[in-house]
Amino acid sequence: MPRGTSRGPRRGNTVAGAEKIAVLGAGNIGGTLAQRLAESDLANEVVLIDIIDGLPQGKALDIQESAPVLGFSTRITGSTDLAALADADIVVETAGLARKPGMSRSDLLTKNASIVGGHAEAVRMHAPEAVVIVVTNPVDVMTYWFRTQSKLPPARVFGESGTLDTARFRWFVAEALRVAPRDVTGFVLGTHGDTMVPILSLTNVGGVPLTRLLPAAKLASIVERTKKGGGEIVDLLKMGSAYYAPSATQAELVRAVALDEHRLLPVTANLEGEYGLRDLCLGVPVVLGAEGVERIVEVDLSAEEKTAFHASAEAVRADLKILAGLSK
Ligand code: LAC
Repeated sequence: MPRGTSRGPRRGNTVAGAEKIAVLGAGNIGGTLAQRLAESDLANEVVLIDIIDGLPQGKALDIQESAPVLGFSTRITGSTDLAALADADIVVETAGLARKPGMSRSDLLTKNASIVGGHAEAVRMHAPEAVVIVVTNPVDVMTYWFRTQSKLPPARVFGESGTLDTARFRWFVAEALRVAPRDVTGFVLGTHGDTMVPILSLTNVGGVPLTRLLPAAKLASIVERTKKGGGEIVDLLKMGSAYYAPSATQAELVRAVALDEHRLLPVTANLEGEYGLRDLCLGVPVVLGAEGVERIVEVDLSAEEKTAFHASAEAVRADLKILAGLSK
């Protein structure tokens, strides 16, 4: 693949998509994501990187050995060396501590910032052309942190937030209406935290506005369940947090970049005046392609949604202030 200058649709030697995808962190999310990426042949090479010796190598080998049965061509390896990031087209940052019951995503702030900060420098050194997808929580803050510490262009660093929350929201709607989950479309915007904002006015089922299909009380309970969607899984698992739906939505984001799909999806993106906000990352609808965030899409929000969205921004700013003290 020609590198550096032309960044058109990424095409490898044997499969359509990226030449190389690096997944930082081989925990439940990183491991499951690496599996999904390998199985969907989105890259010639997937490298799984973790600090715990044996974990990334073991998971990678285990996934690789499924290739003859599942029929994928991706070469997958594991490493403890950040130099294994070299020349990755796409990097997914999953490393960091996960929540335990009773913890908010913000409780992870300072510990995860030091992990993410180190990785941001490694990406700048080894894979400066990469598009980076940040998953580590609290994700809106970590995306901002990764971008500023890596000094990569803002469009090339974004975070998974609304895609996951929207998947949960869509499932709850599909379950309530007994319709195919894929027919439910919509957006959850704002932070990936307790102040996230499911946008009912932009949710529809096969084109029919959701507000015509479900009574207000049911909608309100779906909104509440969505906001606590990650916590519901943490409480059930009692150790660690969700990883099947997160890795599915992360793979969707990787695919949008690897195949230059121009998907319109909610992600946490760098705002420079859009929605009246600047110098922070927050969940908004964007168009995603080979260069990362091609553009931010500004949608009309109701007065109530606008207030909730700005409260969400304030929650992220409060965490950013804590991090400012750590900044170099
Ligand atoms: C969740 C975590 C991954 O929402 O943030 O499940």
